[in-house]
Amino acid sequence: MQTVQPVKSKKIDSSSVGVTSGSIARSENRGVYATFLKVGNRGLKCYNSPESRDQHYRYQRTLANKGLAPYCDDCVDMTLPDGSVKYAYWSGLAEVAMDRYDGELFVNNEDCRDLKARLGDAGYDWHDDHSGNWGYVNGRAVLIDCSGY
Ligand SMILES: Nc1ncnc2c1ncn2[C@@H]1O[C@H](COP(=O)(O)OP(=O)(O)OP(=O)(O)O)[C@@H](O)[C@H]1O
Ligand SMILES: [Mg+2]
Repeated sequence: MQTVQPVKSKKIDSSSVGVTSGSIARSENRGVYATFLKVGNRGLKCYNSPESRDQHYRYQRTLANKGLAPYCDDCVDMTLPDGSVKYAYWSGLAEVAMDRYDGELFVNNEDCRDLKARLGDAGYDWHDDHSGNWGYVNGRAVLIDCSGY
């Protein structure tokens, strides 16, 4: 059986990046796995387990290297004031398609179809194609929810 090495991560206190338990609880950008926070000019994608964080980080890094996702930076294990830990990684910000297209859940336009085709060429079969899962970086459509690569 192939063993997957854990990714390297740094332990930080949430206060060092201005994150509180409240910012996580109030985040409107919460998916099934990720809670997304905008911190300065970057995004912090927070998960409840190191396995889930490591997996999403690897997926996004693979796609980012092909220009298909926002860049991702280092991983952090972030302790909150209540002692709980979020497993997170820093990510480039995208303009979410849902926001650009007035909350429309499915945007089957040329950008979306083109992204799907580029993902397909990279061997990624993209099914969860709602407009909360993709967006724009520097005018180019990218996948922001990279689970399942
Ligand atoms: N790089 C990013 N830039 C801007 N917003 C983002 C980014 N990544 C995530 N978001 C926001 O956070 C939300 C949740 O992130 P994401 O889709 O990765 O989580 P998830 O748990 O996998 O979601 P799902 O509910 O689709 O399973 C997105 O719908 C989007 O609004
Ligand atoms: Mg999502």
